[in-house]
Amino acid sequence: MTVSEAPPAPLFSADYFQNPYPTFAWLREHSPVHEFRFPAGNVRTWIVTRYDDVKAVLADPRFSSEGGTWGNAEFKEAGLVSGAGSVLEKAVTVVDPPAHTRLRRLAMSTFTPRRIAQWRQTVERVVASALDSCAARGEFDVMDDYAGPVSSAVMGEILGLRIERHRELVDALAQAFPSDAARMDQAPEGFARICGYAEDLVALKRRSPADDLTSALIHARQDEDQLSEEELVAMVAAMILAGSDTVRAFVGNAVLALLDHPDQSRLLRERPDLEAGAFEELLRYEGPLTTALFRVTTEELELAGTVLPAGAPVIAALLSANRDPRQFSDPDRLDLTRSGSRHVGFGHGLHNCLGAALARLEGQLAIPALLRRFPSLTLAVPRGELRHIENWAMRRLVRLPVHAAGTGPA
Ligand code: HEM
Repeated sequence: MTVSEAPPAPLFSADYFQNPYPTFAWLREHSPVHEFRFPAGNVRTWIVTRYDDVKAVLADPRFSSEGGTWGNAEFKEAGLVSGAGSVLEKAVTVVDPPAHTRLRRLAMSTFTPRRIAQWRQTVERVVASALDSCAARGEFDVMDDYAGPVSSAVMGEILGLRIERHRELVDALAQAFPSDAARMDQAPEGFARICGYAEDLVALKRRSPADDLTSALIHARQDEDQLSEEELVAMVAAMILAGSDTVRAFVGNAVLALLDHPDQSRLLRERPDLEAGAFEELLRYEGPLTTALFRVTTEELELAGTVLPAGAPVIAALLSANRDPRQFSDPDRLDLTRSGSRHVGFGHGLHNCLGAALARLEGQLAIPALLRRFPSLTLAVPRGELRHIENWAMRRLVRLPVHAAGTGPA
């Protein structure tokens, strides 16, 4: 047998974006710490695809999240430092300890059991209303008519954004995370608009505090310490950015996976006891984040036999780790009864998802509720016409048109 010298579809090519799994399988086998050129700026970059190596990158402090501090000149000049030039430069997502420890503790202090219990009611109400409007349409797009409205309304309500601004927020998110690579140049404006909403929201809640997460963040205290004005705006903006499109993308991926596997879909409809495990398996099978955010090496180091220079950008491929046969048996099979899978869909180490409790609530309620309300849900376009966005870090369908025929009980 001859071993091919290149992956089936080059990284970040059009074919790769539609189906990255054959490329990941090849990389895991032949080049697990793989050097390539990141398209923006043609920057020398390494992508890590095996489960153990992905966890090592995310847990080892020699892989920093502070690209602005540790990244090499090539990385910085290509504009790859997340949030550079905005309040997001100091957001929890892109700082190392001790700054990270402090921001994370302050944020986590607001996620009290009472607040999380309230979120359940919010999510249930938002899901019920989105289902009603989908039922009224008969044929609808899961992305724009269900997953999008649910994720942005939940995030907006939890943070305390006035309802009339939800539509604007959906537009700003669409601008920040475009479906079409040709509109990438508008993304910075989308990010700036979201920072603007966060700023307005913090100002509003300072004047009139309420029982919402923004007000709680304003008043969060840990040992005399509190968030500064800039840190507050960055935290609220980071939550909007990290918590809206991820959930939207995930609901779409999960619904498609279930449409592709009618036996699993039936199992989920019939067995509510599987809801929590099904959520984890769907996140393993096709989570919304193909990769974690960039890490950069703080010194020259060796990873799985490959030497990485200091300041090197490294990408940890979460969706590849989650399909690694070294960790999961029969990893390309969707099996909602799989147990103890320990996927890395929420990341790993210090920066693991801060909103995982909320994401679990949304996913565990929104996905089974859609299947129960529309038990005969079918695709409204041929399967081959579905497209994924061309984004290196996020895996999301552009559209997922469905027929709601056979509407079940409300
Ligand atoms: C299914 C939905 C979601 C998935 C799959 C997801 C996944 C992730 C992953 C993989 C990371 C780590 C990234 C890295 O290490 O570079 C992360 C971080 C984060 N997520 Fe989520 N997320 C989801 C929903 C949410 C929600 C709803 C929120 C809202 C509060 C949220 C807030 C955050 C924040 C603030 C961080 C940064 C944490 C830190 O750096 O310490 N996420 N998420």
